[in-house]
Amino acid sequence: MAVRAVRKTYASGFVALKGIDLSINRGEIFALLGPNGAGKTTLINIVCGIVRASAGSVEADGHDIVRDYRAARSKIGLVPQELHTDAFESVWATVSFSRGLFGRAPDPAHCERVLRELTLWDRKDAKIMTLSGGMKRRVMIAKALAHEPTILFLDEPTAGVDVELRREMWQLVRRLRDNGVTIILTTHYIEEAEEMADRIGVINKGELIVVEDKALLMRKLGKKQLTLQLQQPLGAVPPELAGHPLELTDNGHALLFTFDAHSRETGIPTLLKRLSELRIDVKDLHSSESSLEDIFVSLVSGRQ
Ligand SMILES: Nc1ncnc2c1ncn2[C@@H]1O[C@H](COP(=O)(O)OP(=O)(O)OP(=O)(O)O)[C@@H](O)[C@H]1O
Ligand SMILES: [Mg+2]
Repeated sequence: MAVRAVRKTYASGFVALKGIDLSINRGEIFALLGPNGAGKTTLINIVCGIVRASAGSVEADGHDIVRDYRAARSKIGLVPQELHTDAFESVWATVSFSRGLFGRAPDPAHCERVLRELTLWDRKDAKIMTLSGGMKRRVMIAKALAHEPTILFLDEPTAGVDVELRREMWQLVRRLRDNGVTIILTTHYIEEAEEMADRIGVINKGELIVVEDKALLMRKLGKKQLTLQLQQPLGAVPPELAGHPLELTDNGHALLFTFDAHSRETGIPTLLKRLSELRIDVKDLHSSESSLEDIFVSLVSGRQ
């Protein structure tokens, strides 16, 4: 899927997207992260033909979404952020009807597979309004998969979903990907992106500020920290240590040393030597690595 120079100005005059270029690889899980109002849903809705771009173009599985709308749309499944289902319909009717909307011939075996995969099969005759929130969300996924799309958009798939169900959804998304479906998801749970995504895009105020392989992003922007628990508390970082990236924490009971996760010289041996020369005794030490969440926060807050 390719998004080229897409801009969106809403009728209110608000510029929600300021020129987005993005290529999604076939069969990858791509996580789109960004604060509230960044433009994630706008971008998804443009690709799905719900919102019209003000400029630029989008191709889905080789089809232009405007010139070749029907073909493009038939390749795409969307689980929208706002759940709206036909409350009085049964699960089965909703899912099989959705397939028909895309001009696909009925295929009860496919619909059954999808419902079983989402553990909804035994609720297939239930009216949607009688289901729990998590089940409704799964019905929306089933509905989006009914016409066998090759690209699936999940806009906040696990918002308001309990931990166990979230893990189940992650497994399901992986299985879909293993079956060749390209997945694009948005989430506010950064650990979800950390767990699932092959690549990460960060969007802020209508601009894509980073697109990167997840592992590479974490290696590039990640920092490591070494916490040195002190035998005796200090009132301040001694001036002799001024040249080291140190911070006093834990009411003077610990020194926090930040270093580059990927540099060859960490500076730790020199630091330990200096500490021992200054007779600062270290009781304990442990290191930690910054999470995707730390990286995300620093990326987004740097551009406010
Ligand atoms: N129909 C509309 N008319 C005017 N402005 C809109 C419209 N829809 C969205 N916006 C504005 O565009 C911006 C981007 O909204 P969008 O829904 O794409 O954000 P988002 O990244 O999905 O946020 P969230 O994380 O809260 O879902 C917001 O400032 C929003 O208020
Ligand atoms: Mg949104």
